[in-house]
Amino acid sequence: MHGIPFLDYDAVIGAVSAKNAIARTREAFLRHRAGDWVMPAKVYLPSPPYGDFRAMPALGDGYAMLKWISSFPGNPARGLPTVMGVIVLSDAQTSEPLALLDARSVTALRTGAVAAVAARALAARALAPAGARTCGIIGSGLHGAWAARCLAADGFGPGVCHDPRAELAHALAAELGDGWRAGSLADALACDVVTCVTPGSAPVVTAADLRPGMHLNMLGADGPGKAEATIDAVAACELYCDEWAQAAHGGELTGAVEAGLVGRGDVTDLGAVLAGEVAAPSGGERATLFDSTGLAIQDLAIAIAVYAAGMNSPTRSGPEGNA
Ligand SMILES: NC(=O)c1ccc[n+]([C@@H]2O[C@H](COP(=O)([O-])OP(=O)(O)OC[C@H]3O[C@@H](n4cnc5c(N)ncnc54)[C@H](O)[C@@H]3O)[C@@H](O)[C@H]2O)c1
Repeated sequence: MHGIPFLDYDAVIGAVSAKNAIARTREAFLRHRAGDWVMPAKVYLPSPPYGDFRAMPALGDGYAMLKWISSFPGNPARGLPTVMGVIVLSDAQTSEPLALLDARSVTALRTGAVAAVAARALAARALAPAGARTCGIIGSGLHGAWAARCLAADGFGPGVCHDPRAELAHALAAELGDGWRAGSLADALACDVVTCVTPGSAPVVTAADLRPGMHLNMLGADGPGKAEATIDAVAACELYCDEWAQAAHGGELTGAVEAGLVGRGDVTDLGAVLAGEVAAPSGGERATLFDSTGLAIQDLAIAIAVYAAGMNSPTRSGPEGNA
């Protein structure tokens, strides 16, 4: 058990490009949909009054993974990140632990990647001319930045980055270059693909903001009590989610579900669209909305990619070199 490599934030980010993260994430949804990858339900362990721990297991392609991650809202006041954790990647045949990975970086990559996967699957036909793919990024923090990077890497944009912390929006737009700019909430909402990645403490999308052909990626509301759109706005959209159980109880859809406005039959799984089991939206009548709550299969996809990159590095004899 000694000598398990630890892959820190920089090692993870350096090992997997945005394009690779997008391809791996898309594949993870397909493998899960086909039943090849397994993902038991997320377990919450409250640690009152500080926050909670979450255990997220998944198994596929010869690997087993556990993400052990926290959400401690009071941490920033103590000079610590809200979210911290590690991922254990194990050999699914022998159970041997192969690597420990920083969970923040894996989460950032897989969350950004799913924004591009969903936009490609759900917005492509909604957008009339092929070039009309402007992106609004509402919330330009860690995960907003990775969503923007992945969308840009997948050919979306240019777009508008918005954040009350204007310096973050300006920095992100400058990094992306190529016509991206910082702007107001209204500027971001006017884009074709709008990705919301705020803390989810107040709605940033209302029903009045919706237009046919608009696609919304809702990433920020990933737990109970969070929402980035008003309930009537959610109910007015054509709805998609990463996983119904999570989305209905701790996602953007939750408010509309609890209000009785949205039921299981109103929401299509992203995996079903990717697998071609249902038609992608035409986009002619309503805005499309994708509720991302974050899945362990996404983490597994990135963790395998990081581990494989370590194994294949010409300067390393094995993943130990990454430690
Ligand atoms: N869906 C998923 O899989 C997933 C994964 C990770 C994190 N998240 C969630 O995403 C959210 C953001 O996480 P983060 O790590 O990027 O946080 P962060 O603190 O780095 O960034 C959030 C940003 O939102 C900005 N913001 C706050 N209110 C806003 C508003 N009204 N309009 C625009 N911007 C606003 C903040 O200034 C901040 O820059 C959190 O709620 C987190 O739990 C979701």
